[in-house]
Amino acid sequence: MNITEFKKVANRIKSLPTLPQVLYKIIETIEMPDSSASDVMNTIKNDPSTSVKILKVANSASYGYTREITDISKAIVVLGFDMIKSIALSVTVFKSFPKINNFTKFDRELFLVHSIASAEAAVLIADKIGYTKKDQAFLIGLIHDIGKVVLDYYFSPEYEKVIAKIRVENCLIRDAEIQILNFDHALIGGWLGEQWSFPESILASIKFHHNINEAPTEYTKHAIISHLADIVARTAKIGSGGDDNIPNISDIVLKKTDLFQESINKIVQQLLNKRENIETFFKVVS
Ligand SMILES: [Fe+2]
Ligand SMILES: [Fe+2]
Repeated sequence: MNITEFKKVANRIKSLPTLPQVLYKIIETIEMPDSSASDVMNTIKNDPSTSVKILKVANSASYGYTREITDISKAIVVLGFDMIKSIALSVTVFKSFPKINNFTKFDRELFLVHSIASAEAAVLIADKIGYTKKDQAFLIGLIHDIGKVVLDYYFSPEYEKVIAKIRVENCLIRDAEIQILNFDHALIGGWLGEQWSFPESILASIKFHHNINEAPTEYTKHAIISHLADIVARTAKIGSGGDDNIPNISDIVLKKTDLFQESINKIVQQLLNKRENIETFFKVVS
């Protein structure tokens, strides 16, 4: 797509939701280790819908806490700060683009499950390739496909055609997008991230998750994490990214990491063991 075409697209996206405060604060702590955890907690406390969901997770049977937890500080003790950030991220990212109608057949629930599964997969992958920022990996997996939500929200008629094409041709959603819209969700997701002033590393992980070879060298690792997280979640068949196919693993993964097909299969297995947690998590955040 050339610049003129892209400007036309961007013009169509009026009144873009602002980056939620909670999300902004969390990204800040993920990127700047010096910023304080209490700052994030204060922001979360002031966001009623996120607080309610955090308390719901803390009180769910899986944590086996017998007395009812009614305040956020207690919930942090029970769940841990990483878990709190994961819930807050998932809740805020997806509530920014509520489904405005049931016009398109893009299944937002299965998509949210795919995003959560990819977030969990990203953490497993980061661990295997020696990438230590666990919560950044979670965020990378969670929002790699955020562009699809933007397309479903602002380009409903075209996205309806994209979904119809997938049903008839059983193709990858990205290929259907390019044929119908002339651009894909990675491009528009990257654009959203720019509008929201995401850090470069996160932007690269969104923009290049289907073409790692184009990522700037310093962000290859980030693109590898998002690329593989998507593939692992799809292979495990947890949720749906919009179609049921599995893209090929990029050669760059094999060149730049120690991972090979067998190690990736092991990650798929590890993710499958987390299926129940992923589904519980989805029920709470959705
Ligand atoms: Fe994607
Ligand atoms: Fe995906």
